[in-house]
This record gives sequence, C-alpha cells and structure tokens, in this order.
Amino acid sequence: MVNLHDIRYLRIGTPNLEAAVEFATKIVGLQLVRREGRAAYFRSDKAAVRGDTRDHTLVYSAGDPDDHVVAFDLANRDDLDAAGAELEKAGYPVRHGTKDECERRRVQQLIAFQDPSGNKIEIVARASHSGERYFPSRDAGITHFSHIGLKTSNAPRDEAFWTKLLNARVSDWIGEAPLLRVNTVHHTLALFPSAHPGVQHINHQVEDFDDVMRSYYFLKEKGVRIVFGPGRHPSSSACFLYFEGPDKMVYEYSVGVKHILPEEEASYQPRQFPFAPESFCMWGSRPDIPEFRADQKDKKPPLKTVA
Ligand SMILES: [Fe+2]
Repeated sequence: MVNLHDIRYLRIGTPNLEAAVEFATKIVGLQLVRREGRAAYFRSDKAAVRGDTRDHTLVYSAGDPDDHVVAFDLANRDDLDAAGAELEKAGYPVRHGTKDECERRRVQQLIAFQDPSGNKIEIVARASHSGERYFPSRDAGITHFSHIGLKTSNAPRDEAFWTKLLNARVSDWIGEAPLLRVNTVHHTLALFPSAHPGVQHINHQVEDFDDVMRSYYFLKEKGVRIVFGPGRHPSSSACFLYFEGPDKMVYEYSVGVKHILPEEEASYQPRQFPFAPESFCMWGSRPDIPEFRADQKDKKPPLKTVA
C-alpha cells in the first residue's frame, strides 16, 4: 500500500501563459512566486491555517492545455522507492524524475506514473517549504490549495486503484463518483466520469463564508463566468463557488469541509448520494459543469441567481 500524505502541486499547460498568470493572480488571488523559462509558479498556503507553506501549489507552463500533472507527497518520505516498486509490480510503469525535473519542482526526488484513466501523477519526496509567508495578490481569503476533481473513464476501476494500491478511502459517492480522502480532509481528490483524462476542478479553501460571497460579487463584476453556486455540498458540508478559468479550467473556492478524524476512521461509513443536482448542492444551485451534469435526469438549465 502506497501511503500518500497530501496533495502537493498541480502543473498545467496553457497556450496563453500571460493570460493564465493574469487570471491566477488578479482573479484567483494566488501569489506569483517565480517565473522560470516558460513556467509560472504560484503559492497559496497560509501557515497559520495549514501549519506549513508549500513552496508552490500551482504551476502554469506554456504548452498543451490538456497536459495536467498532479503531485502528492508520502506519509513517510523514505518509502518512495518502495512505492515505485509496488506500482511497477501492479502493472503501472514508473519513471524516476531527472535532476532537472526535481530541481524545477523543488523536490529531492520524484516518481511519475499514470493512473488507469491516463491521468499523470507524481509522488514526491522532501518537497520544499517556503520560509516566506504567503502574500496574496488579491484579498480572496485563500488559506490553501486543498483538492482536485480528476476525470475518470471508469470510476469503479479507478476507485480500486486509488483505494487498494494507494491509501485513499471513500468518504462518499455521488452516483459512481467517489470522493476520496488520504488524510482527515473529507476529500483530497474526487473522480468524475468523463471521456478524457485530466483535472476537472481546482479547489482552494478560503477563510470564511464571507470570502465566498465577496468573491461571488467580485467575479461577477469582473465578468468571470460562475459555473456553480454559491451553494453547499451535502457530502462534505463545504460552502462553495465554482467559476471558469483559463482554457475552461474550473476553479472552486470553498470553506467548511468536513474532517474525518483518526478516531472516526474505524466507524466511518461512506454515504451513497444519487447523481442529482441536490447531491451536489443542498441549497438548490444547479451546476453548469459537464461532469456534474453528465447523466443528470434533470436537464433543466442552471438557475439564474442574483442578477
Ligand atoms: Fe471541489
């Protein structure tokens, strides 16, 4: 069993790096920490909330917008070689990162492989933290990069990959889509059925519900397309707002995600929610996000909220 500790960073390609940098800083509110070649690195972690500050949590680089890589670190950093061997044995070819790749990612070591849907995953050891505090480029209230939605071509198959070969646990299902935890946070990744692999949405936690609503009005004023919310997930209890970023990537702000504490692990029962709008939002907001509407029987258009 490969024991993941947490999500670490996301690397995504874009045909328009300058537009992506502009959006990540002026709209999302991340801190641009460096530019290296044709890549821009962003930070998001407030040490007082997370307990640490990852060197970077998002990288945009000039390239294919469908090229997404998601990285995790290990509960025990000494297990990297054993993790690689275990993945290889299970039939997933593993590549060790070059010195140059490790340097660019600010990690000591990394292994790269693909999940059964073809999502590019990296596991890293001794990733750098920053001694400088996160200094946001706008007051969005972001406290940290928290989770991603990942696309799957076969949810039960990929659920088995993440829960049997790796240490993810199902917190809840919405239809076939499992919301998976690797630590106490209700979900660090969620697998949503889709025709192609890739990251389906990028979540940043914010300080409080006021931040969600402040951003709702801010984004509307800036002409950013809101694709879901404001609302509340009945699964994780989090209040959320989803909006569209560069290359149609979906971003999410949320607050109030449920934790499943170590003493609750043994008795925790995942819940099955039907694949229906009310399973995504208990307030009645309707998603305008393809993977949240895929086999929705209710094809009503998203409700228009405040004008
Ligand atoms: Fe989310």
